[in-house]
Formats: sequence, structure tokens, C-alpha cells
Amino acid sequence: MSKRIVIKDLDIYYDKFKAVEGVNMSIEPKAVTAFIGPSGCGKSTVLRSINRMHEVIPKAWVDGQILLDGDDLYGPGVDPVLVRRHIGMVFQRPNPFPTMSIRENVLAGVTLNNRHISRSDADDLVERSLRGANLWNEVKDRLNAPGGGLSGGQQQRLCISRAIAVEPEVLLMDEPASALDPISTLAIEDLIHELKQEYTIVIVTHNMQQATRVSDRTAFFNIAGTGKPGKLIEYDDTRKIFENPTQKETEDYISGRFG
Ligand SMILES: Nc1ncnc2c1ncn2[C@@H]1O[C@H](COP(=O)(O)OP(=O)(O)O)[C@@H](O)[C@H]1O
Ligand SMILES: [Mg+2]
Repeated sequence: MSKRIVIKDLDIYYDKFKAVEGVNMSIEPKAVTAFIGPSGCGKSTVLRSINRMHEVIPKAWVDGQILLDGDDLYGPGVDPVLVRRHIGMVFQRPNPFPTMSIRENVLAGVTLNNRHISRSDADDLVERSLRGANLWNEVKDRLNAPGGGLSGGQQQRLCISRAIAVEPEVLLMDEPASALDPISTLAIEDLIHELKQEYTIVIVTHNMQQATRVSDRTAFFNIAGTGKPGKLIEYDDTRKIFENPTQKETEDYISGRFG
């Protein structure tokens, strides 16, 4: 189920602007990898390149390779839609379809992918996905109520249910708790901890405590100045990054000194 991602010599562009340069890293399966670094250093850009969402932006492109268990996601003939099925994404702001029911929200990705499933299989999938996102007990009696009626934290778990319903191998999360209250944030962090048994998880977070709480490995990105490309500075076990980083830049960042 869970697969390894290998990034090789990755440069990422918005038209002529090189936003990220020279990323090389291997992301472990069944683990949580955190991307940290100052605003604008390219964390979201790298994340979106992993499931080929980056190129949805006009004139956005990448140079380099990203391998999923050895298969180049940017190889000739690879269908980006299929890549996004294998590599799901959860965004900063919960984005359920507000007027669609909770049930329909969970199934939205499955239906979009044209997988025809029977009513009873769909019921099973809805339950399994909602259980997987720790939401089932809170919504099982109102599956036909609109997704927009849930609290922010529940909506984010609904989006996670929707992402796991298509049975991806990788889950990418871009600051998934930054719009949530502290209790919902802890619920999401607990959930991430459980999900890593099955998935390769990459999470962008600007919250360093969160990175230490949820991740096994941490990648620190930095930017030398405006208009310069973001770079991967150091990538190691989370403990090492926060307790004994090798690079001075990393140490300055995690101890709150910049530049
Ligand atoms: N849609 C876009 N078009 C042009 N430039 C963008 C776009 N999105 C991000 N950028 C630029 O790419 C760089 C990296 O941004 P981003 O990946 O959002 O950083 P982070 O997530 O680390 O804050 C920044 O200079 C940002 O202004
Ligand atoms: Mg970002």
C-alpha cells in the first residue's frame, strides 16, 4: 500500500521564476515526513509537485524526477490524473463540497474517478473511510446531512476521509491544522499518527512543535532572499533536526534566529 517517494534533482518553476532548486530526497513509506521552513521557501510548491498538482497552474513546470516505488511520475505517457489518485492531498482550509451530504463528500473522489460501485460497497467504503479519519462516531447518524454543517475540525477530517476513500498510497497535507482550534488540531495530529501505519505521509507545517509531535523525519527548506529559489537545507530524523542539526541555517531557524 504505502510507497517510497524519491525526488531527484528537482527544480520547480512558475513560468521563468525558479521557485525551488536542486531538491534530492527519499521519503519513507509508513512514516510521517514534515516540511518546515520560512514562508515562501517552497514547501507547498514541492508538496504540489509530488502529485502533479503544481502543473495545474498556467505556465508552471518542473525539471527533474519524482519516483514512486521506482516509477517516474513525470515519465512520458504518465497520466497526471492517475498520479493524483495514488497520491492524495489535503489542503490548509477544509474544502468539503458544502451542499453535498457527508456521504457524498466521502464518495466524491471515487465517483470522480469513474469507479462504479454498488450501493452496499459504497456504504462499506463510506464507513471505512470515516472510521479511518476518526469521524464515523460523530456523523454516523447524519450521513445525509450537508458536509458544510460540520465544525471546522470535522470538515477537515471529512476531507481526509474523502482523500483516503480512493485508497491512495501517499497522503500529502499542506498545513492541515492551521485553520483549526487546538482541540481539533490534536485530533488531526492523532489521526496522522494512526494513518502512518498505512500511508506514506508528507505534511507541511509552520508549527515546529507540531513537526516534533507528528513527524519521524523533517526536511528544512530555506530561501536566501526574495526572488531566489528555495532549497532543501537539511533532511534527517526529526529528533536530529531539532536537537542536533548539522547545518547552522537549520539551527538558526529552529532556535528562532533568522538570516
Ligand atoms: N501560483 C503561483 N504563481 C507564481 N509564484 C508562486 C505561486 N505560488 C507560489 N509562488 C512563489 O513560489 C515561491 C514558493 O512559494 P510556496 O511554495 O507557497 O512557499 P511556502 O509554502 O514555503 O510558503 C514563493 O516565492 C511564491 O511567491
Ligand atoms: Mg505554503
